[in-house]
Amino acid sequence: MKNILVTGGTGFIGSNICKSLVKQNYKLTIFDNNFRGKIKRLDKIKKKIRFVKGDIRDKKKLEKSFKNIDTVIHLAFINGTQHFYDRPVDVMEVGIKGIFNVLELSSKYDVKNFFLASSSEVYQTPNKIPTDENEMLKIPNIYNPRFSYGAGKIISELMSVYYARKKFKRLVIFRPHNVYSHDMGNEHVIPQFIKKISSSKNNKAIKIKGSGNEIRSFIHIDDFINAFNLIFHKGKNLEIYNIGTSEKISIKKVAMLIAKKIGKKIKLKKTNEFFGNTSIRCPNIKKITKLGFKQNINLSSGLDSVLKSLRIFKI
Ligand SMILES: NC(=O)c1ccc[n+]([C@@H]2O[C@H](COP(=O)([O-])OP(=O)(O)OC[C@H]3O[C@@H](n4cnc5c(N)ncnc54)[C@H](O)[C@@H]3O)[C@@H](O)[C@H]2O)c1
Repeated sequence: MKNILVTGGTGFIGSNICKSLVKQNYKLTIFDNNFRGKIKRLDKIKKKIRFVKGDIRDKKKLEKSFKNIDTVIHLAFINGTQHFYDRPVDVMEVGIKGIFNVLELSSKYDVKNFFLASSSEVYQTPNKIPTDENEMLKIPNIYNPRFSYGAGKIISELMSVYYARKKFKRLVIFRPHNVYSHDMGNEHVIPQFIKKISSSKNNKAIKIKGSGNEIRSFIHIDDFINAFNLIFHKGKNLEIYNIGTSEKISIKKVAMLIAKKIGKKIKLKKTNEFFGNTSIRCPNIKKITKLGFKQNINLSSGLDSVLKSLRIFKI
């Protein structure tokens, strides 16, 4: 692995992967249309990378980024829960045209290693908690636009496996579970709470999607990057790895924890939850742990570092 193409490389996870790979002296080409990505995230490495701006659905443009590439990390996708409901056609189109274009060009240019970002959303409502990688993947209801995202990811996984059997030396699929940092974009629960709570008056009701009893496991971006590097170097061909932590917490408690850290008293006001949202999500991380993964940053200290980066201090 020498010359790497990262699609979605100006995004939250992509930019952090790129910074880590540049540190390890890999040569990088980054492809993104900056729909949610920001080139500014790559300021510190801008002299060491090649950036091609384009839409993953535009195969001709994408082909411009394939010169000499031996490894692809495919992250470009429309992320952010509200988008799944508001623009399901775009979500599916970027997911499906994207994976077809990336795989066809990887095959044409004789790419050897392919890393695919899938998602915990492919499990929807899992049968088992913690959920291992053998869990059944599902689309519970074709009429609910939320599943545009999970469906796009399931199809991406299937197509990657079919191509990999014939074309690649190594395909590794990873399924991230609720990654966070200060720079993740505002369409996620932690930044939304921080924004609402830090700008609210004491005892003001903070609106919360659903009952707040939904359980999630969050992983700080630094731990995520450690896990990603393990699968990048040691992940086995045709294997799938959950990336996350087993530290479970309800969404209500996340809000309370943030309020305590900021020094605000809050009340939570329930609103309708996202239709099709799952009540509990927690990965089984035995496989990634076997590769050497250990959670170094628990949610409490991760939130401290997020608040510090955002310059929000206890009042
Ligand atoms: N953040 C998480 O907790 C999480 C969880 C599960 C899966 N994932 C997956 O990991 C990957 C990275 O996620 P992220 O959190 O960095 O999201 P992100 O939205 O920050 O990154 C995705 C990138 O894809 C780019 N993109 C979108 N549409 C495009 C298009 N048509 N052409 C080219 N580029 C396009 C965006 O501009 C963005 O930079 C995604 O595939 C996402 O589905 C993330």
